[in-house]
Amino acid sequence: MEIDQGVVDALQHAKHVLVFTGAGVSAESGIPTFRDALSGLWARFDPAALATREAFRRDPSFVWGWYEWRRMQVYKAQPNLAHRAIAELSANVAKLTLITQNVDDLHERAGSIDVIHLHGSLSTPRCFACARFAVEPLPPPDEPIEGRHLEPPRCGHCGGKLRPGVVWFGESLPTQALAQSFAAAKDCDVLLSVGTSGVVEPAAQIPDIAWRAGATVVHINPDTKGVRGAREFWLEGRASEVLPQLLAKGFRRQRIEFIR
Ligand code: APR
Repeated sequence: MEIDQGVVDALQHAKHVLVFTGAGVSAESGIPTFRDALSGLWARFDPAALATREAFRRDPSFVWGWYEWRRMQVYKAQPNLAHRAIAELSANVAKLTLITQNVDDLHERAGSIDVIHLHGSLSTPRCFACARFAVEPLPPPDEPIEGRHLEPPRCGHCGGKLRPGVVWFGESLPTQALAQSFAAAKDCDVLLSVGTSGVVEPAAQIPDIAWRAGATVVHINPDTKGVRGAREFWLEGRASEVLPQLLAKGFRRQRIEFIR
């Protein structure tokens, strides 16, 4: 895959790079995406039956069990070359902001810091009753079987049931994370949009805000992404192949060999 010189030039001169990731960046770590036709989570499960407050109210142990199954998948996965390239990028640019729609911790485990989780995180459960974050971190997940019911732990503050610390359909995104994300989109010189279908609002506005503010926007995705012409590019391919190449070309370094 040929990387357009316009992308390389923009990256080399950027003072502030914003990396915006979706499920596609964790796909190569074995974590299912959401909308892929066959393997995607929403192709196999009904979000309304799992990813809403009503679903949890109706059957807390079914919903908690399903998220513990997802947490186990993340626990057993490893960061891939895309996560590592993004962590490496932060050492090569003056300022990097990383915003993810993903609820896994693979960016952090690859070495990225100050990750903005727009849709929350599997690692930070909250109380369904008082909404406060759990007092204790969750223990490593045991081996839940897909679809097994698990009784949610209790809140250390009020005794209510803990719920997954993710943003469900119909819920608002964390106010501070959203404000930080929109501000970074307006300020950045380059936005790398990696592995997202760009269909879920309001996160989907972020690349558009950056482009309208004058940034160069680069979509990294095996699926076609429409571009508006100047300052917008689509690099066709998997994140774990494109990002290391982009890093190597952008910073004229020997192809960065990560410890495989
Ligand atoms: N490298 C890069 N992109 C990839 C790869 C890969 N190896 N594999 C798949 N993709 C792309 C797909 O082409 C698709 O465009 O990743 C994207 C995944 O899209 P979705 O499954 O819709 O995931 P995402 O965009 O993160 O969804 C946003 O929707 O359901 C909610 O809360 C959920 O955060 C999620 C949000």
